[in-house]
Amino acid sequence: MKVAVFSSKKYDREGFEQWADNSLQFSYFEQRLNAQSVKLAAGCHAICAFVNDELSADVLQQLSAMGIEMVALRCAGFNNVDMAAAKELGIRVARVPAYSPEAVAEHTIAMMLTLNRKLHKAYNRVRDDNFALDGLLGFNMHGKTVGLIGTGRIGIATAAIIKGFGCKLLCYDIQQNAELDGHYVSLEQLYAQSDIISLHCPLNPATQHMINAEALAKMRDGVMLINTSRGALIDSKAVINSLKSRKIGYLGLDVYEQEADIFFENLSEQMIDDEVFKRLLTFPNVLITGHQAFFTKEALQQISSITSDNLLAFASNQANGNELVN
Ligand code: NAI
Repeated sequence: MKVAVFSSKKYDREGFEQWADNSLQFSYFEQRLNAQSVKLAAGCHAICAFVNDELSADVLQQLSAMGIEMVALRCAGFNNVDMAAAKELGIRVARVPAYSPEAVAEHTIAMMLTLNRKLHKAYNRVRDDNFALDGLLGFNMHGKTVGLIGTGRIGIATAAIIKGFGCKLLCYDIQQNAELDGHYVSLEQLYAQSDIISLHCPLNPATQHMINAEALAKMRDGVMLINTSRGALIDSKAVINSLKSRKIGYLGLDVYEQEADIFFENLSEQMIDDEVFKRLLTFPNVLITGHQAFFTKEALQQISSITSDNLLAFASNQANGNELVN
């Protein structure tokens, strides 16, 4: 089976080439999948896509017209796929539901600690022979209240680390997980009581901009907000207003609403036109990473292995449980 791999980087190629053989041949394209680049998939039987590839109805129709019957997502989230259109066209969509929840949970914690203890500033200062501590004052995690929104695989992995710190854990989810019995509260209570709030729910119509002006107003003054899930969970403009009013004391983002035009590329020689993103970068208490929470050796290994397995299951018309059904 020939597979067109979109948005591919060197590390993707290295991962997937381990699984290439007579039954799986990969063609790698650096281009992001969209209505213009979709033609690159001509001659392939399936495509492999990542978080910022566009699988709109238009793109899916073009794929279908080329005879492509399968989309293998090499990520967990599938908010970028028009699932209704895929169903109508008979295109099967599989994903990698859990390649390494710990990778994302650990990056979430890294963001909390960096913002709290200002490691990014300390690193630069010490390299400049500046050993002054002014401006680096942090707080003990121990005893603080941490609110997790979404307690699926990543939320659970984050909760385990948070408990280890001796924090008080509050959780909100539309489907409670028995492992976290006793920690669930209403969203209102979580907003009102948490010193740190971390988002671990998927992006869908119900969660889009869930962190808006109204939600922010319910949070504690000086709250730390972390988003390693999907950018559009947060209304970026409302968050900027809350940073300006000091409502938000710390902001950690691994994802950004308009990240598709920015992340995963070296733009250091270019102008970034996104005024909202550039404004976010001006705040001293904002830490942004470019969608790297998943990026560990273990996760990459799992991603290429499970995606290849999904493709082979499709080729042999078998179900391996990773296909999205709508
Ligand atoms: P999961 O499917 O295991 O868990 C998601 C949880 O969110 C479920 O328990 C679900 O009931 C809950 N949920 C759904 N709607 C909700 C709502 N309205 N309010 C509160 N909770 C709600 O997913 P997993 O593996 O934990 O991943 C979570 C998200 O993390 C993914 O959807 C993806 O967007 C993001 N992600 C980010 C990565 C990164 O590199 N930054 C890597 C992998 C995933």
